[in-house]
Amino acid sequence: MEFLPLWLCLGFHFLTVAWRNGSGTAAATSQGGCKLLGRVADCQGQNLASVPDNLPSHSWTLILDTNPLKTLWNHSLQPYPLLESLSLHSCHLERIGRHAFREQGHLRNLGLADNCLSENYKETAAALHALPGLQKLDLSGNSLTEDMVALMLQNLSSLEAVSLARNTLMRLDDSIFEGLEHLRELDLQRNYIFEIEGGAFVGLTELRHLNLAYNNLPCIVDFSLTQLRFLNVSYNILEWFLAAREEVAFELEMLDLSHNQLLFFPLLPQCSKLHTLLLQDNNMGFYRDLYNTSSSQDMVAQFLLVDGNVTNITTVNLWEEFASSDLSALRSLDMSQNQFQYLPDGFLKKMPSLSHLNLNQNCLRMLHIQEHEPSGALTELDLSHNQLSELRLAPGLTGCLRGLRLFNLSSNQLLGVPTGLFANASNITTVDMSHNQLSLCPQPAPLDGAGPPSCVDFRNMASLKSLFLEGCGLRTLQDCPFQGTSLTHLDLSGNWGVLNGSISPLQDIAPTLQVLSLRNVGLSSNFMELDFSGFGNLRHLDLSGNSLTSFPRFGGSLALRTLDLRRNSLTALPQRAVTEQLLRSLWTVYLSQNPYDCCGVEGWGALEHLKTIADLAMVTCNLSTKVIRVMELPGGVLQDCKWEQVDMGLFYLVLILPSCLTLLVACAIIFLTFKKPLFQVIKSRCHWSSIY
Ligand SMILES: *[C@@H]1O[C@H](CO)[C@@H](O)[C@H](O)[C@H]1NC(C)=O
Ligand SMILES: *[C@@H]1O[C@H](CO)[C@@H](O)[C@H](O)[C@H]1NC(C)=O
Ligand SMILES: *[C@@H]1O[C@H](CO)[C@@H](O)[C@H](O)[C@H]1NC(C)=O
Ligand SMILES: *[C@@H]1O[C@H](CO)[C@@H](O)[C@H](O)[C@H]1NC(C)=O
Ligand SMILES: *[C@@H]1O[C@H](CO)[C@@H](O)[C@H](O)[C@H]1NC(C)=O
Ligand SMILES: *[C@@H]1O[C@H](CO)[C@@H](O)[C@H](O)[C@H]1NC(C)=O
Ligand SMILES: *[C@@H]1O[C@H](CO)[C@@H](O)[C@H](O)[C@H]1NC(C)=O
Ligand SMILES: *[C@@H]1O[C@H](CO)[C@@H](O)[C@H](O)[C@H]1NC(C)=O
Ligand SMILES: *[C@@H]1O[C@H](CO)[C@@H](O)[C@H](O)[C@H]1NC(C)=O
Ligand SMILES: *[C@@H]1O[C@H](CO)[C@@H](O)[C@H](O)[C@H]1NC(C)=O
Ligand SMILES: *[C@@H]1O[C@H](CO)[C@@H](O)[C@H](O)[C@H]1NC(C)=O
Ligand SMILES: *[C@@H]1O[C@H](CO)[C@@H](O)[C@H](O)[C@H]1NC(C)=O
Repeated sequence: MEFLPLWLCLGFHFLTVAWRNGSGTAAATSQGGCKLLGRVADCQGQNLASVPDNLPSHSWTLILDTNPLKTLWNHSLQPYPLLESLSLHSCHLERIGRHAFREQGHLRNLGLADNCLSENYKETAAALHALPGLQKLDLSGNSLTEDMVALMLQNLSSLEAVSLARNTLMRLDDSIFEGLEHLRELDLQRNYIFEIEGGAFVGLTELRHLNLAYNNLPCIVDFSLTQLRFLNVSYNILEWFLAAREEVAFELEMLDLSHNQLLFFPLLPQCSKLHTLLLQDNNMGFYRDLYNTSSSQDMVAQFLLVDGNVTNITTVNLWEEFASSDLSALRSLDMSQNQFQYLPDGFLKKMPSLSHLNLNQNCLRMLHIQEHEPSGALTELDLSHNQLSELRLAPGLTGCLRGLRLFNLSSNQLLGVPTGLFANASNITTVDMSHNQLSLCPQPAPLDGAGPPSCVDFRNMASLKSLFLEGCGLRTLQDCPFQGTSLTHLDLSGNWGVLNGSISPLQDIAPTLQVLSLRNVGLSSNFMELDFSGFGNLRHLDLSGNSLTSFPRFGGSLALRTLDLRRNSLTALPQRAVTEQLLRSLWTVYLSQNPYDCCGVEGWGALEHLKTIADLAMVTCNLSTKVIRVMELPGGVLQDCKWEQVDMGLFYLVLILPSCLTLLVACAIIFLTFKKPLFQVIKSRCHWSSIY
């Protein structure tokens, strides 16, 4: 007896493997265009006008998607009494005979998405009522209204998952889902729902997963589905979210309220298991500190909850903001794209488990980091695209960001960070401070530096791997600003003059660097070639937008995969030997937008047919005054160049001399031949009085 469960498991395992692969153990056969695999018959897209009747009668799964069936006739599934799963997506179904499923007592899973079932919905409803064991039903994309749905779902009490996405539901009353006491998952996204009556989900005691995304709901008040775990109300027009003010435990774990019009932080249950809260793209802010709390009274909002002839009034103190919400289990909080100007004291303290916090694109001016605020569990903090001019650290506090891995501060107005901020951030791997006006500290500053920070120091951050400092207005790097780190990614792009013509400030990290971006930093190779020999692990190098006149040099064993040299001042390709060495390891190289001299492109022969040059079609060169695409360079050009190189003056002299000589001789002959008569003509014209 003990072995029975094992056998069942093995059997199931083999079945799934066979299903996944067309040439598995149970060799696939085909019958009238249908693929048979074990007890699965797959007749997708066979242009069938009716259900085939010659498939094996013991089939469990029948897939008839994208066949123009139009009607599912009475008894047409009769040959397959053991069917458990039937899929009829996109079959132009307008009609399902009331006896179509009469023999399908085993059917558990029925897919009817993207048909026209609103046409004869009464007959379809009658057909569905013959399915007492149905667990999963997909009615998405059928233009169904709430009345049709109510009729179709009536008495289907065995249902566990229903999809009604992409229909035309507008109002949910308390009759529509009546009796679906086993329903766990309900998908209502992409309808036109603007109102949900209080009792609509009351009977659904097992409901765990509810998706209401892409509807027209203006608010959710008195939310009281205590057993729900997952609620998605994104892409509606919500202005309020208000949970019932009861001290019952909610099971809610995931709440998606993103892309709405919320003005206030949602008033969440007082006791819940919420671990993910998505509030992206609303109009939220905290307001209490923006008013004179001493002078003005607390602000309240009153909600009238009307249910039949009963009206209840709920009063909410707007200054309470987040105070009554239970955020203790929260791990991930996305508040990006809102109007937050500050975070109130104690806000982050309420989230001791928080590991991901996204505040990207708000209006924050200052962030005050205190003990346990944010929590030591925080691993990712995104503060990019705010107006932060100051990060303030509570005095004496070190090790506040000890669990942090990624810190994004890009696009703010920071001049530096407090010295202690990174001191004990021993797990930090990625820092993005691009687009701030930073300076790097000239020497390691003492930990208790007073006054607002005016520089940032990355020295000795041993865990740091990726550092993004694009467009920071950095001054020329002095000595060893990255000493004691083992950076693999470094972006210094857009800091004009940061390297002052030499890459020696990067020598400390040369052995570990894999990705280096030096776009638009004003590098030139006028004085000497750039030498990347020490950068043994470098894989991606971006040198575009500089003034390089010669190719950089690379050492012997090259790991380089990508090289970008666009928008420089290169006039010639590197020596053949260098090219060959480069091309052995390079996968992609960008060379366009350089003023190459067509006569100096001897290396093209080797390069031309390589896929390595990603922008070959855009590489141009100058031929005397013309700019020509290198790919369209005529074959004889190199020959001409040789001539040109010998001596252009001589070339022209040789070309012109014979013509000149010919002309001269001709003139002389003419002159001699007509000399005398010409003279006489002139004489007679002028009537000179001559004395011969
Ligand atoms: C799945 O089928 C492909 C060919 O259709 C075959 O190459 C592959 O080995 C098969 N995989 C398994 C796990 O049977
Ligand atoms: C199914 O049978 C009923 C009578 O039993 C009939 O009224 C109906 O038109 C039939 N539907 C189809 C699609 O054949
Ligand atoms: C649903 O069940 C109720 C009671 O069990 C019954 O009266 C009603 O006729 C059923 N409706 C349908 C459409 O089968
Ligand atoms: C909520 O639904 C929308 C629309 O289907 C989807 O894009 C989003 O990812 C969902 N949210 C979550 C957390 O799954
Ligand atoms: C708050 O009140 C004080 C005096 O009552 C006043 O000076 C100050 O401007 C007020 N601030 C705001 C933001 O209204
Ligand atoms: C509400 O209306 C129902 C009848 O519709 C009535 O029985 C009940 O007494 C009313 N309740 C109140 C509080 O008016
Ligand atoms: C109104 O309040 C009463 C008593 O507090 C409560 O029993 C009832 O369920 C409430 N009704 C609504 C619609 O909230
Ligand atoms: C922070 O680092 C300093 C020295 O760098 C050390 O003395 C101190 O104990 C560390 N604090 C924490 C909380 O790890
Ligand atoms: C640092 O990261 C390691 C590995 O991910 C983890 O085990 C450790 O707890 C982290 N340290 C802190 C202080 O969070
Ligand atoms: C930081 O945020 C900016 C803007 O939101 C984004 O473009 C950038 O990729 C982020 N940096 C990292 C390292 O994730
Ligand atoms: C830049 O380099 C030149 C020559 O190497 C040197 O004279 C000059 O002082 C350097 N500028 C800075 C700001 O370091
Ligand atoms: C190539 O042509 C451009 C535009 O005509 C000119 O500015 C540039 O100086 C030329 N370069 C060379 C090397 O002839």
